[in-house]
Amino acid sequence: MTQAVIDLLLSRRSVLAKDLGEPGPTAEQLETILAAALRVPDHGRVEPWRIQVLHKAAQASLAEVCREIFERENAAASNALIEAEYERMQRSPVLLVVSSHPDPQRFEKVPAMEQLLSAGALCQNMLIAAQALGLGAQWVTGWPAYHPEIRKALGHSAETDIVGFVHVGTPPGPPRERPRPDPAAIVSEWPGSGDAD
Ligand SMILES: Cc1cc2nc3c(=O)[nH]c(=O)nc-3n(C[C@H](O)[C@H](O)[C@H](O)COP(=O)(O)O)c2cc1C
Repeated sequence: MTQAVIDLLLSRRSVLAKDLGEPGPTAEQLETILAAALRVPDHGRVEPWRIQVLHKAAQASLAEVCREIFERENAAASNALIEAEYERMQRSPVLLVVSSHPDPQRFEKVPAMEQLLSAGALCQNMLIAAQALGLGAQWVTGWPAYHPEIRKALGHSAETDIVGFVHVGTPPGPPRERPRPDPAAIVSEWPGSGDAD
């Protein structure tokens, strides 16, 4: 079992949202992905995140909002570009929207950064759980994550941070490997300050 988990982590790959097809996660699989997400490290049990599940009809509704904003703000955009923006939120069978809801009253013990990091880790748990279930997933942001009107359309305040749109579906096949960093360039051993006895 341990080796299976390590193998999963060492083979983790995102699958491009546009390549994620039907079937989407079953209700049970979705429940598992969400349970794994909620198992995220959360200093002080602040629970500074929310997850919204968008099935196809809801994706289409958010897609309309994206298209309307994009057309308004990019008057010279081609029809193909506008169409791509309309498709953006509808690329996979299920879309999970993760937003950050830090509690300022807890900042003294759990600084804002820690609460935001927990939301990022929550997205990561979703990716891992989806892959473990034989599904594929991709964590994306793009301009909609940073647009106040999208935040409001989703029922949040204009300032709410959308940490990720996590697309989930069935991959077309095994993902191609992606070059990974050279550990030697990233990891070093700190020898200590030399002050210890
Ligand atoms: C916070 C965050 C936002 C991202 N936003 C996008 C995005 O908008 N579009 C995109 O193509 N990839 C985005 N990515 C990268 C993909 O999630 C993914 O890491 C990438 O496709 C590489 O695949 P890999 O996870 O297998 O390395 C984002 C990653 C993170 C952590």
